[in-house]
Parts: sequence; structure tokens; C-alpha cells
Amino acid sequence: MTTSSAPGKVYLFGEHAVVYGEPAVPCAIERRARVTVEARDDDRVSVRADDLTLDGFTVAWGGEADDRPDVDVPTPLVEAAMGYVDGAIERAREAAEAPAAGFDVTIESDIPLGAGLGSSAAVVVAGIDAATRELGVELDPAEIADLAYQVEYEVQEGQASRADTFCSAMGGAVRVQGDDCRQIRDVPNLPFVVGYDGGSGDTGQLVAGVRTLKEEYGFAADTVEAIGDVVRSGEAALEDGDVEEVGRLMDFNHGLLSALGVSARSLDSMVWAAREADALGAKLTGAGGGGCVVALDRTEQTLTALEYTPGCEEAFRAELDTDGVRVEA
Ligand code: MEV
Repeated sequence: MTTSSAPGKVYLFGEHAVVYGEPAVPCAIERRARVTVEARDDDRVSVRADDLTLDGFTVAWGGEADDRPDVDVPTPLVEAAMGYVDGAIERAREAAEAPAAGFDVTIESDIPLGAGLGSSAAVVVAGIDAATRELGVELDPAEIADLAYQVEYEVQEGQASRADTFCSAMGGAVRVQGDDCRQIRDVPNLPFVVGYDGGSGDTGQLVAGVRTLKEEYGFAADTVEAIGDVVRSGEAALEDGDVEEVGRLMDFNHGLLSALGVSARSLDSMVWAAREADALGAKLTGAGGGGCVVALDRTEQTLTALEYTPGCEEAFRAELDTDGVRVEA
């Protein structure tokens, strides 16, 4: 039996635009998905998710190559979640040259599903690590990031960047632009506060919506490029240790994401609550449509304001997690 874990993330800058070759800066946070894998005697796969969102949910599949999971709750979110797990198992089987390996898989996660905190990337990354180790193969985090990206790419039908998977595999703050992925060293202390509306967005649909806008309107394409400019300025501010400027640029980034139609009333309410509480900056994180915002605040004001914001289900401080994927047992 092998357990591996991998962190979730917040986007300091650059979601959506990163899909079109602009840079992005996601940061791993100390909220993890843990995946336990135990090899079976047959070729079946059974998955139990004790996730925050999929509490006590179990599916099993296997045998015939074209067998699909027997999913009781046919929501797109659950189907996508199982697609990620299926993809992780397939990649692990390939990497270990064990095409018929069967597994019992248990997922425990404190990262809400589809809420912009990188739950699917964390599950895929931890799942590949645990399943390959269980088969006697140890991959380095960069290799795991690459395999996990292939899974996201397939599940999101070609509309995925390397940002979430690289960040989860490597930990810390990272910069991703196309295939160029690196860790950012010596980031200043970033006092993250996260607000969660209890909901989620459909990443595939939201990414497709931005693509349509971008193809239809030149100014939407310009907006995507403007996000790239914000990210480049944000990187310079990070390098200078200028956290106030990072916050101002996060505000700008949120405005541009809003213009691209990926915000939501609940996300805007939480962003405004943070701003009115004198946060250094606040923006949605991830695909949007619902889920989480991230703010920067060294004081307790934003946390308190979010706790009293209608539509905010949970607010918490998040520390940068410098550890990426790791084996737990
Ligand atoms: C989703 O967490 C982030 C997006 O930029 C999509 C991606 O980068 O794959 C919206």
C-alpha cells in the first residue's frame, strides 16, 4: 500500500491567459489531496473518494478495456473527477509497463472539487506518484508533472495548460508559459486569504467560453494579452519583494478576468469584501464561474470580512507550501 499527497494551489496571476501562451504564476498552498493505492490480484480499479465534495463516494471499473465507471451520480463534475483518476491510473500503468495492474484507490482531500484550488491536478499528481511507487517505479516530480499534464489535457479536451499540474508536482511558487515551467525562488511572504462560495465552475466550459470570445472580438484577444502584461509586471514586483504592488496587480487581473466573463456574483462579492477590508489585492483563482477568491492581507480584516460576506461559505488563511508531491507512507 502506498500513500502520496500533492498540494492544491491558488493563482497569483494568469489563469485562462496561460492556455494561450501567456505566462502564469500559481502558488502551491498547504491544502493537500492524499491518494492511497493498493495493488489488487485482478485488473479492476475501485475508487473511494473521501473528498470534501464527494464524501464517501465509491466507483469501480475494469475488466474490459472499454468498461466505463459505473457512476451513480451522473454530474459532469463527478464524471470529470473519475476521468482524472482513470487517466492517472492509465499513465501509471504505462510508466510501470504493467498494463493489467489493478488497484484499490482511496482519495482523501481537503481541496474542494472544481473550486479553483487545483483539486484535480493534486489528485492526478498524487495518484500517479502513489500508483507508480506501488508498482515499484519511482518517477521524479518533473516527470509526474508531465504525465499529469497529459491527463488534464485529455480530460479538458486539449484546453489545459501545464500550470496546475506543474505547481502541484513541484510545490512553491512557479512560472509557467507554454512548455516552459520553472520554480520561482525567494518569493516574499505572501499572506494569502481564501474565500470559498461552496460552489464550483466547469473548467472545460469556462475555457471554451473564453476561447469563443477571443475568436469573436479583437478586444477579448487584447484582454488575454493584457493579462500576460499584468503577469510580467507581477513577476517583477515579486522579484522586488513589493507585495503591495503584487496586490494592486491582482486587482487588475481580476478586472480583466471579469471582462472575459469568468467571474460570478459570489466571486465579485468576496473580492469586494476583501477590497473594502483593505486587502492588498483580491481576485478569483482558477477557472472561475464559482469557487474561490484569493486575497492578500497581513491583518485579520479580510478573513473577518469574508466570514460575514453573504455567499462566502468558508474563509481561511493559506500558507505557501514549498513541498510538491511527496510519499506519505
Ligand atoms: C484552471 O485551474 C486554470 C485555467 O487556466 C485552465 C488551465 O490552465 O489549464 C483556466
